[in-house]
Amino acid sequence: VSLTSFNTFGLPAVAERYLPLTDPQQLQDPIFQRPPALVLGGGSNLLLLEHLSGLTVHVQLGGVQVLGAAAGAGAGTRSEDSPHYYQPEVILHVGAGVDWNQLVRYTLDQGWYGLENLILIPGTVGAAPVQNIGAYGAEVAERIVAVHVWEYGVGPRVLRPEECHFGYRDSRFKQEPDRFLITAVDLRLNGEHRLKTGYGDIQRELERLGKTDPRPADVALAVTNIRRSKLPDWFFLGNSGSFFKNPVVPLSVATSLQQRYPELPVYPVDGQSAKLAAGWLIDQADLKGVRHGAVGSYARQALVLVNHGGATGREVLAFSAFVRQTVFEKFGVELEREVQLVGSSPG
Ligand code: EPU
Repeated sequence: VSLTSFNTFGLPAVAERYLPLTDPQQLQDPIFQRPPALVLGGGSNLLLLEHLSGLTVHVQLGGVQVLGAAAGAGAGTRSEDSPHYYQPEVILHVGAGVDWNQLVRYTLDQGWYGLENLILIPGTVGAAPVQNIGAYGAEVAERIVAVHVWEYGVGPRVLRPEECHFGYRDSRFKQEPDRFLITAVDLRLNGEHRLKTGYGDIQRELERLGKTDPRPADVALAVTNIRRSKLPDWFFLGNSGSFFKNPVVPLSVATSLQQRYPELPVYPVDGQSAKLAAGWLIDQADLKGVRHGAVGSYARQALVLVNHGGATGREVLAFSAFVRQTVFEKFGVELEREVQLVGSSPG
């Protein structure tokens, strides 16, 4: 089966065996005593090489159930003296195959807040915990109350957030890739909530929109506008979002780089380390918009590598190695891949 239309990079790949997972009952089959070669969600964080041997399982488990507290209480209320919203908590039980952005839109339509900063992220609900999707000051981990999994060789299990080892673009599901298949995620919405508008771009966009007293829907609109202006739509230009992680380096490295490059964006992590903007490094290494054949760095966000049409995974890999090398030579910083590399290339 061809996976070309199942990965947002639009890379050509063929799976030796392909199985859509539409019903949790299918997991009782003996094949799920062991991990398949690939568990595919929305295919939005993948770098696929041409050949995938073994079984590819395409998770298509649907369904959104509202568990617990009062639903649909309308838009957030805001009391005079507190700059935060309060609305009774809602717990959602969402199938792993549900499209993440559709879920975000559904929650906003209900007047529920908590996911507004994470609008327009491609991919599925089941993939969200794996790399702990995050954007504009929010991370999905903050909203997760449970992750329902199938543990190969064991059976169904429910993991609490503290068992998921969430970190920056990281989780136990990434650290132990052959142990669990995520079947559903429980998310907590509403409750005590402070809008996250601290990210510079959001502040500027809210100002531009004239929203001095923003509501969750305004934040979602601001994020939508920012994302549309910087990030390519994979439907028209194949990509997997940020190709590299923002590198976390020792504080001393960040400080000395900042002395040489005062413009370098540095985000504090803890007392010992800091995160640098990979996009800035690639940009300042003069690689923004640079293209080698069908692969390039996006002209409006250098951290996103794009498929201009007809690229192969091998070509993307070669271009990314060139980016990595160039950035290392200029800044002495090693970029680490954020996208997941799978499959093999002939020859
Ligand atoms: N920058 C440049 N040139 C560029 C790109 C970025 O100078 O070509 C500078 C920006 O001006 C800014 C800084 O680098 O000062 C950071 O850029 P941006 O705000 O666009 O965010 P990012 O750090 O590149 C991260 C996430 C994105 C997420 C945004 C917003 C990672 C690896 N990426 O990107 O996530 O949408 O922040 O929160 O952490 C993804 O994971 O696929 C993804 C798109």
